Amino acid sequence: MTISPERRLLPIVTDEEGSDGPCSSRRSAMTCRYRCGDACGHDAPNTSDNPTFAEVMQDAISRRTVVRAGAVIGAAAAIGLSNSAPAAATRPAAPGAPGKGKPPTKGPGRGPLGLRFEPVAPNRADAVVVPPGYAQDVVIRWGDPLFRDVPAFDPRRQSAAAQKRQFGFNCDFLEILDHDRDVKLLVANHEYTSEELMYPGYDPAAPTREQVETSWAAHGLSVIAVRAARRDGRYEPIVGHHMNRRFHTQTEFELSGPVAGHPLVRTSADPAGRTVLGTLNNCAGGITPWGTWLTAEENFNQYFANAGRVTDPVQAQRLTRYGLPSGETERKWERFDDRFDVAKEPNEPNRFGWIVEVDPHDPTSTPKKRTALGRFKHEAATPRVTKDGRVAFYMGDDERFDYLYKFVSRDKVKRGTSAAARRANRDLLDHGTLYVARFTGDSPGEIDGSGRLPADGQFDGAGEWIPLVFGTRSYVPGMSAEEVLLFTRLAADQVGATRMDRPEDVEPSPRSGKVYVALTNNTNRGAAGRAGADEANPRTNNKHGHVLELTEDRNDAARTRFTWNLLLVCGDPADPSTYFGGFPKEHVSPISCPDNVAFDPHGNLWISTDGNALGSNDGLFGVVVEGRDRGRTTQFLSVPRGAETCGPVIRDDRVLVCVQHPGEIDGASADAPASSWPDGGGSIPRPSVVTVWNTRGRKIGV
Ligand code: FEO
Ligand code: CA
Ligand code: CA
Repeated sequence: MTISPERRLLPIVTDEEGSDGPCSSRRSAMTCRYRCGDACGHDAPNTSDNPTFAEVMQDAISRRTVVRAGAVIGAAAAIGLSNSAPAAATRPAAPGAPGKGKPPTKGPGRGPLGLRFEPVAPNRADAVVVPPGYAQDVVIRWGDPLFRDVPAFDPRRQSAAAQKRQFGFNCDFLEILDHDRDVKLLVANHEYTSEELMYPGYDPAAPTREQVETSWAAHGLSVIAVRAARRDGRYEPIVGHHMNRRFHTQTEFELSGPVAGHPLVRTSADPAGRTVLGTLNNCAGGITPWGTWLTAEENFNQYFANAGRVTDPVQAQRLTRYGLPSGETERKWERFDDRFDVAKEPNEPNRFGWIVEVDPHDPTSTPKKRTALGRFKHEAATPRVTKDGRVAFYMGDDERFDYLYKFVSRDKVKRGTSAAARRANRDLLDHGTLYVARFTGDSPGEIDGSGRLPADGQFDGAGEWIPLVFGTRSYVPGMSAEEVLLFTRLAADQVGATRMDRPEDVEPSPRSGKVYVALTNNTNRGAAGRAGADEANPRTNNKHGHVLELTEDRNDAARTRFTWNLLLVCGDPADPSTYFGGFPKEHVSPISCPDNVAFDPHGNLWISTDGNALGSNDGLFGVVVEGRDRGRTTQFLSVPRGAETCGPVIRDDRVLVCVQHPGEIDGASADAPASSWPDGGGSIPRPSVVTVWNTRGRKIGV
């Protein structure tokens, strides 16, 4: 869509787009509203240190749209790419406005294998910026077809029917799975919809049925077959391939495990409590050792209206702890389907907030919501096989002051990814033990909230995994096993779990077995009435987040004791509160708000960011975790204005990312876009998957 200049109302943004508003980061207020239902604009729902918790039903704090006066920057001022097909995105990007913070000076030696590229400087370009010698291309965009006979994407002629057959909005988790010799399966989550950026003329107070149903269809998951180009790093989607699938808010999912059929998951549409329509707010995820896909339902609370009308104190406490809005929802879905109104359908929210297992290799399979892994704002679930052959999954609950969890299966995993292995492991996630983490520092009395290192030179200590539930056995006084799984946050509150600074993605190193946890930020740390700094969360007003490294006893994922230390305390390296594993800070890239994490084939940790609080675009960074370069942090790419970087996949020959919510800047709309990425020419921005490769055919970073 090209907007005529006279119609274009330029969004009002500052030179540091985003807000000093409700969100901890520089994420825009619009992202806060649509992504997580303004989670940071409300009190963090974990008030478990507050004795009046059970009696308090928080009224929603009225939403604040924070638009500061300042520079006016619109699409016309943004960096334009080509107006043509996405292949044009391979052109070198104009640098755009410089960002804040300095790129690193050259570090010692040639740098570690996998990270030998010129760092991308902090910038504000409306483009994906990659190092010299690398090229990029868009693989698939919101609205591109997965099936034949789908009308060409036209933002002014959207429909639910078309969107159910097109790539959904706001891709987050990403993986490329082997299918056959020539074909791979790209799997992606569609976390949420940003209605003001999707629909020209959208009225947030009065969405139409067609808009609402299109948004239902734009949520969910995609599986699409792709073919790798032989000459470069491009992937070509195969429209109409028999493996392609779209899951959305009307698709059937099966509830599986201990909670399936429980009275608290029965609804008028599903009196058996076993079949749920849809999956919501799917953030990151993981791939099981047997080759299935785990997708994490995160901020599901925001879709369910009218918690304030619930009078039963037990139910009200449960809704409050999960942050359901007291009145209407942002998207007003409750006007079009009673199941989104808890006053009418009280158990429907209990059917969301799970880890969902999908078998992309079987195009007839029904995805399963695995209730044994607990219910919270799941960010991801990543596996590690125990020494006795079972499998552990690490999971963050992405909310300020919430917890880190681990699930360990009861049964051993059958190795391999064959159809026989997938069959043998099909019930593995229905039986096991769910734990929550407690961290203890070894420098008590030295943590002052400033980020100053203690005398032993490390933020570090020991910890334990506290069991919550195993099968029908609850370890939490006053809660049944099913209640522990349904209201896991309330269970964890009771056992002394450590309140963390937004635990997001978690990734075990395939080389060392050490487990890395991204803690995105928490500006409420140390605020009045809230938990202060501790050694695992050592900064008050934590704007930039940190990365924790956890080593389990005897390096065995089945163990319940561990040691830990902070690998990174993020921010501008010139800021004395930052720490980069002891590496000289003049040689590292500034990094803020770590979110998704992945490993490359050389054992380096790669981190994507969400909400860069340093005033530059979000990006993707490689970090050395072992040896003399430990902590060396180098930026590989940056994403367009208003976007966050998601779903990094780091292969020998390619790096893939999802560019989520490009142009999501306060004041922007489909009628006045703040970004025209990837199509350029004043078009509306389209969340997309991007692939990056070395133009000389070399491996990444060598
Ligand atoms: Fe969807 Fe926690 O990011
Ligand atoms: Ca210490
Ligand atoms: Ca995330």
